Amino acid sequence: MNRVVVGLQWGDEGKGKVVTYLSRYHDFVVRFSGGANAGHTVNYGDFKMVHHLMPSADFSRNVGVAIGSGVLLDPDVFSQEHRELFDKFPGYSGKILISENAHVVLDLHKRFDEMVDQLLRIGTTKRGIGPATADRAMRVSVRLADIDDPEKMKTLLEKNLSLKKMYGLSAELNEIVRRLEGFYQSFREHIVPVLQLKRILEEKSLLFEGTQGVLLDVDVGTYPYVTSTSCSSAGVSAGMGFPVKVDEVVGVFKAYTTRVGEGPFPTELKGKEGELLRETGREYGATTGRPRRCGWLDLPLLKYAIEVAGVDVLVMTKADVLVGFEKVKVCVKYKGEGELLSLKGLERKEPVYETFDGWKSLEDERFARFVSFIEKETGKKIKYVSTGEKVGDMLEV
Ligand code: GDP
Ligand code: IMO
Ligand code: MG
Repeated sequence: MNRVVVGLQWGDEGKGKVVTYLSRYHDFVVRFSGGANAGHTVNYGDFKMVHHLMPSADFSRNVGVAIGSGVLLDPDVFSQEHRELFDKFPGYSGKILISENAHVVLDLHKRFDEMVDQLLRIGTTKRGIGPATADRAMRVSVRLADIDDPEKMKTLLEKNLSLKKMYGLSAELNEIVRRLEGFYQSFREHIVPVLQLKRILEEKSLLFEGTQGVLLDVDVGTYPYVTSTSCSSAGVSAGMGFPVKVDEVVGVFKAYTTRVGEGPFPTELKGKEGELLRETGREYGATTGRPRRCGWLDLPLLKYAIEVAGVDVLVMTKADVLVGFEKVKVCVKYKGEGELLSLKGLERKEPVYETFDGWKSLEDERFARFVSFIEKETGKKIKYVSTGEKVGDMLEV
């Protein structure tokens, strides 16, 4: 049985924690899009791991991990996380597979990201994801397989560097080659041809780990304030490079909403209430440390994301953060508007709120009412409630 876990807001919904928990039911956790722009914090109780590239599998159970062709692979970040994995789980015996068609992210991409974002003001993570995606589309990017073919790699890099020159950026070709070859040598046993990856995975039960969230998806998100990859459930097969059967789409959402970077956010709370949510929920970016913008749950957007991603079941996270809040608000519609069919004009929408009595604990009747309300409004079951940050803090309902 294959599942995909997707974020239903603007990222940071707690996907890493949920995926780590659910990985006990699967053989492999597989990444299919994004790159080191993701920051998935997993709290094992005694320690935490922040996954940027390494899939969030429960390593204590030896679940295997795989990285598909659609992932933009930063060799430095991957090497560092691979070391951390074996520091924390020295006996880990799961398989680690990387598609040889995955493209690499270079320092040059990160510098370009910094430079371009000063002009475009998307508020990117500066992990080089946009520029690496652009190079892939321009056909001047290096895939892992190309590193094993030095002439081809050099030709690609020469073309790439001459394009970058137009933007006043330069880098030392031999230095890039040296670093990429070093990476390839260290990980060659894990780098597999796409058909080998397909054959290994088709025998297994897979858990696809979404990065970012539906509202950050390049096609269906709040464009241009989005990431550059297909991070919704529709991106799974494209990201693997072969058709994948997904039996269940699991949508993860926070009991409130957060966003990092620029772009519309109708329920954003700018004053003290927003600060209270940020401090109580410790809402600071796992990748950049930036304070996350905070606001109430937005049902029109949640329903949009659920339908666009074809969600079957829901997981609610961070409702524990709202314990002790006297009132909890939910945006139920936008002023003067019917059903939300697209994100067009989102920056001009005005939320209409329904106010709920806050809950004293997650066993409180008032919390049960909040859960039922969301289930009724979305028409989907909340199958799990995450009750805290540790992997085991999970309630199956
Ligand atoms: P991701 O990018 O979707 O994996 O989410 P992040 O890891 O960036 O942000 C979610 C944060 O909330 C992490 O620090 C998690 O450890 C934490 N977290 C996840 N679920 C819960 C929950 O139910 N309650 C609390 N208090 N924290 C949670
Ligand atoms: P996880 O997987 C939250 C946001 C950035 C910016 C926009 C584009 O941890 O949920 P990019 O670097 O991708 O070009 O930035 O997307 N963004 C995220 N926000 N969580 C993430 O990942 C994000 N990945 C990218 O803040 O607004
Ligand atoms: Mg995150």
